[in-house]
Amino acid sequence: NNISIIGVPLQYGADRKGVDLGPDAIRGANLHERLKALGFNIDDLGDLGVQRMMTVPQEGEKLKHLSEIKRVNEELCDRVAGEMGKGHFPLVLGGDHSIAIGTIKGVLQHVKRLGVIWFDAHTDVNTHETTHSGNIHGMSLAAVLGYGHPDLVGIGGAENKLNPENVVIIGARSIDPGERTFLKEKGIRVFTMHDIDKCGMKQVMEEAIEIVTNGTDGVHLSLDLDGMDPGVAPGVGTPVNGGMSYRESHFAMEMLFERDILVSAEFVEVNPMLDQHNMTAITAVELIGSVFGERIL
Ligand code: ARG
Ligand code: MN
Ligand code: MN
Ligand code: MN
Repeated sequence: NNISIIGVPLQYGADRKGVDLGPDAIRGANLHERLKALGFNIDDLGDLGVQRMMTVPQEGEKLKHLSEIKRVNEELCDRVAGEMGKGHFPLVLGGDHSIAIGTIKGVLQHVKRLGVIWFDAHTDVNTHETTHSGNIHGMSLAAVLGYGHPDLVGIGGAENKLNPENVVIIGARSIDPGERTFLKEKGIRVFTMHDIDKCGMKQVMEEAIEIVTNGTDGVHLSLDLDGMDPGVAPGVGTPVNGGMSYRESHFAMEMLFERDILVSAEFVEVNPMLDQHNMTAITAVELIGSVFGERIL
Protein backbone atom coordinates (compact mmCIF):
# COMPACT_ATOMS: atom_id res chain seq x y z
CA ASN A 1 0.00 0.00 0.00
CA ASN A 2 2.94 2.30 -0.60
CA ILE A 3 3.16 4.69 -3.52
CA SER A 4 6.51 6.26 -4.32
CA ILE A 5 6.18 9.54 -6.17
CA ILE A 6 9.09 10.56 -8.40
CA GLY A 7 9.04 13.92 -10.18
CA VAL A 8 11.06 14.32 -13.37
CA PRO A 9 11.20 18.00 -14.41
CA LEU A 10 12.58 17.23 -17.84
CA GLN A 11 11.64 19.35 -20.85
CA TYR A 12 14.47 18.55 -23.24
CA GLY A 13 12.54 15.85 -25.06
CA ALA A 14 9.88 18.37 -26.13
CA ASP A 15 9.86 21.58 -28.13
CA ARG A 16 8.06 23.92 -25.77
CA LYS A 17 9.23 25.28 -22.48
CA GLY A 18 7.23 24.74 -19.33
CA VAL A 19 6.68 20.98 -19.19
CA ASP A 20 9.49 20.90 -16.60
CA LEU A 21 6.99 22.57 -14.26
CA GLY A 22 4.64 19.58 -14.57
CA PRO A 23 5.62 17.70 -11.40
CA ASP A 24 4.99 20.70 -9.16
CA ALA A 25 1.77 21.56 -10.96
CA ILE A 26 0.51 18.02 -10.34
CA ARG A 27 1.59 17.98 -6.70
CA GLY A 28 -0.03 21.40 -6.32
CA ALA A 29 -3.38 19.94 -7.40
CA ASN A 30 -3.66 18.01 -4.08
CA LEU A 31 -2.15 14.76 -5.23
CA HIS A 32 -0.99 13.64 -1.78
CA GLU A 33 -4.28 14.36 -0.03
CA ARG A 34 -6.21 12.52 -2.69
CA LEU A 35 -4.07 9.38 -2.48
CA LYS A 36 -3.95 9.43 1.32
CA ALA A 37 -7.75 9.58 1.39
CA LEU A 38 -7.73 6.29 -0.52
CA GLY A 39 -5.61 4.71 2.23
CA PHE A 40 -2.17 4.79 0.64
CA ASN A 41 1.14 5.64 2.29
CA ILE A 42 2.95 8.20 0.20
CA ASP A 43 6.72 8.43 -0.14
CA ASP A 44 7.44 11.52 -2.21
CA LEU A 45 11.05 11.28 -3.30
CA GLY A 46 10.96 14.79 -4.77
CA ASP A 47 12.30 15.64 -8.19
CA LEU A 48 15.31 14.25 -10.00
CA GLY A 49 17.98 16.84 -10.73
CA VAL A 50 17.99 18.15 -14.28
CA GLN A 51 20.67 20.40 -15.73
CA ARG A 52 19.02 23.82 -16.07
CA MET A 53 21.49 25.67 -18.24
CA MET A 54 20.96 24.19 -21.67
CA THR A 55 18.79 26.55 -23.67
CA VAL A 56 19.62 25.35 -27.17
CA PRO A 57 20.44 21.86 -28.41
CA GLN A 58 24.11 21.16 -29.00
CA GLU A 59 25.44 21.91 -32.48
CA GLY A 60 24.97 19.08 -34.93
CA GLU A 61 22.99 17.00 -32.48
CA LYS A 62 20.19 15.42 -34.49
CA LEU A 63 18.44 14.11 -31.41
CA LYS A 64 17.99 17.22 -29.32
CA HIS A 65 19.62 17.16 -25.87
CA LEU A 66 20.42 13.47 -26.15
CA SER A 67 23.14 13.41 -23.49
CA GLU A 68 21.12 15.05 -20.70
CA ILE A 69 18.03 13.00 -21.55
CA LYS A 70 20.09 9.84 -21.38
CA ARG A 71 21.62 10.84 -18.04
CA VAL A 72 18.29 11.71 -16.40
CA ASN A 73 16.62 8.55 -17.69
CA GLU A 74 19.41 6.36 -16.34
CA GLU A 75 18.92 7.92 -12.93
CA LEU A 76 15.16 7.50 -13.21
CA CYS A 77 15.58 3.85 -14.16
CA ASP A 78 17.65 3.20 -11.02
CA ARG A 79 15.23 5.10 -8.83
CA VAL A 80 12.17 3.27 -10.15
CA ALA A 81 13.90 -0.11 -9.81
CA GLY A 82 14.89 0.77 -6.25
CA GLU A 83 11.34 1.66 -5.22
CA MET A 84 9.93 -1.48 -6.80
CA GLY A 85 12.55 -3.45 -4.90
CA LYS A 86 10.96 -2.15 -1.68
CA GLY A 87 7.56 -3.32 -2.88
CA HIS A 88 6.36 0.20 -3.61
CA PHE A 89 4.26 1.30 -6.56
CA PRO A 90 6.23 3.89 -8.58
CA LEU A 91 4.15 6.88 -9.68
CA VAL A 92 6.26 9.04 -11.98
CA LEU A 93 5.30 12.64 -12.77
CA GLY A 94 6.59 14.36 -15.91
CA GLY A 95 8.11 16.12 -17.58
CA ASP A 96 8.01 15.27 -21.23
CA HIS A 97 7.29 11.76 -22.49
CA SER A 98 10.96 10.87 -23.01
CA ILE A 99 10.95 9.91 -19.32
CA ALA A 100 8.96 6.80 -20.18
CA ILE A 101 12.29 5.26 -21.16
CA GLY A 102 13.70 5.52 -17.64
CA THR A 103 10.45 4.52 -15.96
CA ILE A 104 9.79 1.46 -18.11
CA LYS A 105 13.41 0.29 -18.04
CA GLY A 106 13.31 0.55 -14.25
CA VAL A 107 10.11 -1.49 -14.04
CA LEU A 108 11.62 -4.07 -16.42
CA GLN A 109 14.39 -4.74 -13.89
CA HIS A 110 11.69 -6.37 -11.71
CA VAL A 111 8.95 -7.38 -14.12
CA LYS A 112 10.60 -9.01 -17.12
CA ARG A 113 7.39 -9.79 -18.92
CA LEU A 114 5.71 -6.40 -18.79
CA GLY A 115 2.62 -5.17 -20.63
CA VAL A 116 2.26 -1.46 -21.40
CA ILE A 117 -0.79 0.69 -22.01
CA TRP A 118 0.29 3.86 -23.83
CA PHE A 119 -2.47 6.45 -23.62
CA ASP A 120 -1.57 9.18 -26.16
CA ALA A 121 -2.62 11.26 -29.18
CA HIS A 122 0.71 10.19 -30.68
CA THR A 123 2.45 6.85 -30.88
CA ASP A 124 6.02 7.92 -29.98
CA VAL A 125 7.65 5.25 -32.12
CA ASN A 126 9.98 7.46 -34.14
CA THR A 127 13.66 6.61 -34.21
CA HIS A 128 16.75 8.69 -35.01
CA GLU A 129 16.16 7.55 -38.58
CA THR A 130 12.51 8.53 -38.95
CA THR A 131 12.15 11.61 -36.72
CA HIS A 132 11.34 14.91 -38.37
CA SER A 133 11.43 16.98 -35.19
CA GLY A 134 14.47 15.52 -33.43
CA ASN A 135 12.39 15.57 -30.23
CA ILE A 136 13.08 12.53 -28.13
CA HIS A 137 9.60 12.48 -26.55
CA GLY A 138 8.45 11.19 -29.95
CA MET A 139 10.86 8.20 -29.71
CA SER A 140 10.38 6.78 -26.22
CA LEU A 141 8.08 3.87 -27.04
CA ALA A 142 10.37 2.72 -29.86
CA ALA A 143 13.34 2.87 -27.48
CA VAL A 144 11.76 0.60 -24.86
CA LEU A 145 10.85 -1.85 -27.62
CA GLY A 146 14.55 -1.96 -28.49
CA TYR A 147 14.65 0.36 -31.52
CA GLY A 148 16.37 3.67 -32.11
CA HIS A 149 19.54 5.41 -30.99
CA PRO A 150 21.85 3.11 -29.02
CA ASP A 151 22.19 5.72 -26.25
CA LEU A 152 18.43 5.46 -25.65
CA VAL A 153 18.02 1.74 -26.24
CA GLY A 154 20.95 1.05 -23.91
CA ILE A 155 19.39 2.77 -20.87
CA GLY A 156 18.86 0.12 -18.19
CA GLY A 157 20.35 -2.52 -20.49
CA ALA A 158 19.47 -3.07 -24.15
CA GLU A 159 18.41 -6.63 -23.33
CA ASN A 160 15.57 -5.33 -21.14
CA LYS A 161 12.79 -4.48 -23.53
CA LEU A 162 9.10 -4.83 -24.16
CA ASN A 163 7.47 -7.48 -26.29
CA PRO A 164 5.46 -5.66 -29.00
CA GLU A 165 2.70 -8.27 -28.55
CA ASN A 166 2.05 -6.89 -25.06
CA VAL A 167 1.92 -3.18 -25.94
CA VAL A 168 -1.20 -1.20 -26.82
CA ILE A 169 -1.63 2.44 -27.75
CA ILE A 170 -4.98 4.08 -26.99
CA GLY A 171 -6.28 7.40 -28.32
CA ALA A 172 -3.92 7.85 -31.27
CA ARG A 173 -4.83 10.44 -33.89
CA SER A 174 -1.49 11.88 -35.04
CA ILE A 175 0.90 9.31 -36.50
CA ASP A 176 3.94 10.13 -38.66
CA PRO A 177 4.56 8.14 -41.89
CA GLY A 178 7.64 6.39 -40.49
CA GLU A 179 5.68 5.48 -37.37
CA ARG A 180 2.94 3.83 -39.42
CA THR A 181 5.46 1.53 -41.03
CA PHE A 182 7.02 0.75 -37.64
CA LEU A 183 3.69 -0.07 -36.00
CA LYS A 184 2.70 -2.39 -38.85
CA GLU A 185 6.09 -4.11 -38.99
CA LYS A 186 6.20 -4.76 -35.26
CA GLY A 187 2.52 -5.65 -35.05
CA ILE A 188 1.67 -3.18 -32.31
CA ARG A 189 -2.03 -2.86 -31.59
CA VAL A 190 -3.20 0.74 -31.89
CA PHE A 191 -6.70 1.73 -30.78
CA THR A 192 -7.20 5.01 -32.60
CA MET A 193 -9.89 7.59 -31.88
CA HIS A 194 -11.80 5.98 -34.74
CA ASP A 195 -11.84 2.69 -32.83
CA ILE A 196 -13.02 4.42 -29.66
CA ASP A 197 -15.80 6.16 -31.62
CA LYS A 198 -16.83 2.91 -33.25
CA CYS A 199 -16.59 0.41 -30.40
CA GLY A 200 -16.71 2.52 -27.27
CA MET A 201 -14.13 2.72 -24.50
CA LYS A 202 -15.45 -0.37 -22.71
CA GLN A 203 -14.74 -2.73 -25.59
CA VAL A 204 -11.46 -1.01 -26.42
CA MET A 205 -10.26 -1.42 -22.84
CA GLU A 206 -11.38 -5.04 -22.65
CA GLU A 207 -9.38 -5.88 -25.77
CA ALA A 208 -6.44 -3.79 -24.60
CA ILE A 209 -6.34 -5.46 -21.19
CA GLU A 210 -6.42 -8.88 -22.83
CA ILE A 211 -3.36 -7.96 -24.93
CA VAL A 212 -1.27 -6.44 -22.13
CA THR A 213 -2.01 -9.22 -19.63
CA ASN A 214 -1.56 -12.18 -21.98
CA GLY A 215 1.58 -13.91 -20.71
CA THR A 216 2.80 -10.96 -18.64
CA ASP A 217 3.42 -10.48 -14.90
CA GLY A 218 2.30 -6.86 -14.65
CA VAL A 219 1.22 -3.79 -16.58
CA HIS A 220 2.59 -0.26 -16.74
CA LEU A 221 0.38 2.73 -17.58
CA SER A 222 2.11 5.51 -19.54
CA LEU A 223 -0.39 8.34 -19.80
CA ASP A 224 0.38 11.36 -21.96
CA LEU A 225 -2.19 14.05 -21.09
CA ASP A 226 -2.43 15.02 -24.78
CA GLY A 227 -4.36 11.78 -25.29
CA MET A 228 -7.31 13.58 -23.79
CA ASP A 229 -9.18 16.21 -25.75
CA PRO A 230 -7.54 19.66 -25.53
CA GLY A 231 -10.88 20.93 -24.21
CA VAL A 232 -10.23 19.11 -20.92
CA ALA A 233 -6.41 19.00 -21.04
CA PRO A 234 -5.25 22.18 -22.80
CA GLY A 235 -1.90 22.46 -21.01
CA VAL A 236 0.17 20.20 -23.27
CA GLY A 237 2.92 21.01 -25.75
CA THR A 238 1.54 19.07 -28.72
CA PRO A 239 -2.28 19.27 -28.53
CA VAL A 240 -4.34 17.43 -31.16
CA ASN A 241 -8.07 17.96 -31.57
CA GLY A 242 -10.55 15.14 -31.24
CA GLY A 243 -9.21 13.37 -28.19
CA MET A 244 -10.67 11.21 -25.47
CA SER A 245 -13.38 12.81 -23.42
CA TYR A 246 -13.24 13.34 -19.68
CA ARG A 247 -15.53 10.41 -18.95
CA GLU A 248 -13.96 8.06 -21.52
CA SER A 249 -10.60 8.64 -19.88
CA HIS A 250 -11.94 8.10 -16.38
CA PHE A 251 -13.81 4.99 -17.39
CA ALA A 252 -10.57 3.55 -18.77
CA MET A 253 -8.79 4.33 -15.47
CA GLU A 254 -11.63 2.81 -13.46
CA MET A 255 -11.42 -0.39 -15.50
CA LEU A 256 -7.68 -0.57 -14.80
CA PHE A 257 -8.36 -0.31 -11.08
CA GLU A 258 -11.08 -2.96 -11.20
CA ARG A 259 -8.80 -5.42 -12.96
CA ASP A 260 -5.96 -4.68 -10.54
CA ILE A 261 -3.24 -5.19 -13.15
CA LEU A 262 -0.99 -2.13 -12.78
CA VAL A 263 2.47 -2.31 -11.21
CA SER A 264 3.54 1.24 -12.10
CA ALA A 265 2.26 4.40 -13.77
CA GLU A 266 3.41 7.72 -15.14
CA PHE A 267 1.58 10.92 -16.05
CA VAL A 268 3.45 13.12 -18.50
CA GLU A 269 3.41 16.21 -20.70
CA VAL A 270 1.54 18.48 -18.24
CA ASN A 271 2.67 22.00 -19.14
CA PRO A 272 1.23 24.62 -16.77
CA MET A 273 2.73 27.46 -18.83
CA LEU A 274 0.34 26.63 -21.65
CA ASP A 275 -2.59 26.08 -19.32
CA GLN A 276 -5.45 27.95 -17.71
CA HIS A 277 -5.93 27.71 -13.94
CA ASN A 278 -3.77 24.57 -13.71
CA MET A 279 -6.62 22.67 -15.37
CA THR A 280 -4.48 19.94 -16.93
CA ALA A 281 -2.68 19.09 -13.69
CA ILE A 282 -6.06 18.98 -11.92
CA THR A 283 -7.33 16.64 -14.64
CA ALA A 284 -4.20 14.49 -14.19
CA VAL A 285 -4.78 14.20 -10.44
CA GLU A 286 -8.41 13.28 -11.00
CA LEU A 287 -7.32 10.52 -13.38
CA ILE A 288 -4.75 9.33 -10.84
CA GLY A 289 -7.58 9.20 -8.29
CA SER A 290 -9.55 6.87 -10.57
CA VAL A 291 -6.51 4.69 -11.21
CA PHE A 292 -6.12 4.17 -7.46
CA GLY A 293 -9.72 3.44 -6.70
CA GLU A 294 -11.86 6.56 -6.39
CA ARG A 295 -15.47 5.78 -7.20
CA ILE A 296 -18.43 8.01 -7.92
CA LEU A 297 -20.66 6.11 -5.49
N1 ARG B 1 5.40 12.59 -33.75
C1 ARG B 1 5.86 13.90 -33.38
C2 ARG B 1 7.38 13.92 -33.23
O1 ARG B 1 8.04 12.95 -33.40
C3 ARG B 1 5.18 14.37 -32.10
C4 ARG B 1 5.51 13.55 -30.88
C5 ARG B 1 4.78 14.05 -29.66
N2 ARG B 1 5.08 13.24 -28.53
C6 ARG B 1 4.65 13.49 -27.30
N3 ARG B 1 5.05 12.68 -26.33
N4 ARG B 1 3.88 14.51 -27.03
O2 ARG B 1 7.93 14.95 -32.94
MN1 MN C 1 8.25 1.99 2.69
MN1 MN D 1 1.42 12.83 -27.14
MN1 MN E 1 3.56 10.87 -25.86
